Amino acid sequence: MTLSRRDFLGAGAAAAATAVVSGKAAAGLVEVVDRSLSAGASRATRPVVVASSNGLRGVARAYEMLTRDNADTLDAAIAGVNIQELDPEDQSVGLGGLPNADGVVQLDASCMHGPTKRAGAVAALEDIATPSLVAKAVMDYTDHVMLVGAGAKKFALQMGFQEQNLLTEESRQDWLRWRACLSSGDNWLDHTDPVVIKFHTGTINMIALNAAGDVSTVTTTSGLSWKIPGRVGDSPIIGAGQYCDNLVGGAGTTGRGEAVIKACASFLTVEHMRQGMAPEQACLKTLERIVAMTETRLLDERDRPRFDVDFYAVSKDGRFGSASIYSGSRFAVADATGARRVESAYLFPRAERPRTPRPACVPQAG
Ligand code: GLY
Repeated sequence: MTLSRRDFLGAGAAAAATAVVSGKAAAGLVEVVDRSLSAGASRATRPVVVASSNGLRGVARAYEMLTRDNADTLDAAIAGVNIQELDPEDQSVGLGGLPNADGVVQLDASCMHGPTKRAGAVAALEDIATPSLVAKAVMDYTDHVMLVGAGAKKFALQMGFQEQNLLTEESRQDWLRWRACLSSGDNWLDHTDPVVIKFHTGTINMIALNAAGDVSTVTTTSGLSWKIPGRVGDSPIIGAGQYCDNLVGGAGTTGRGEAVIKACASFLTVEHMRQGMAPEQACLKTLERIVAMTETRLLDERDRPRFDVDFYAVSKDGRFGSASIYSGSRFAVADATGARRVESAYLFPRAERPRTPRPACVPQAG
């Protein structure tokens, strides 16, 4: 649903950003891994909502909106990812996301609306917790597709989004630990406790298909932790972080954005489905391309990447699937069976994944 610009300014942004159920437990969510119900079984079901593993609550909400309210597919998908964007405990997206090297949370998001062939995106957006909704506002209320940085924030404020500090204390402490290990000759806090540094390329992608076969996609993220300020990953790039075509289906991704951008990988996954591949097969084929496109410095001695990427896809007829480079990934799905997590297909066993040695962090007093 698209409100008029006047209505959106009056209520839409604020209401949409706060209309999120808090709490981890939600009735009907099943925390089981059920590979038999993945696209490997080629089961077609509509409506269906698919997301990255952190989207279990989100797919349940989006599915409920599709079935109970006959909601628009993009509204449903965005309401689903809003749960993670507004959850301060998810350090890969929105409020509480891990910051960049300067300690500033910079968010990326994009969305596509299959039925109307429209798209919107924001990148390096600061101080607004729901970049997915700002991306939709770019789509709905401008003649542009992508706004970045200060311009994106100014637009969001003009549209009525609320400014807030997105850096939670937990993420600030993680950033300080990382920062303390950079150099012994600066003025940053030192940590004498054992230092465990978090790195993240976590993200949430969601794909919603309704009973009529309309599809929409959204991806939102705080991006790579400790990134160089201004770094933009795949999530806000149409065709990289997500893509849909209402004639074919939708696809999206989480993981190392730099690898995804080079392969135009969500677009490629939809094109694989257009050629007749099932969603899971399309994801695997795209991952093969990503591996083939990987520069030598990021490959191990067996020419396998030192990083992981996950793909998710839904075809117009309601089949769905997911795959990752290394085993062990899961994805979230909601259909008539309920909301649950399902094992993803993969190219290589995780046991064979090369460990990237991280330099030991020994913080010192200046
Ligand atoms: N896929 C999220 C990122 O690389 O920013």
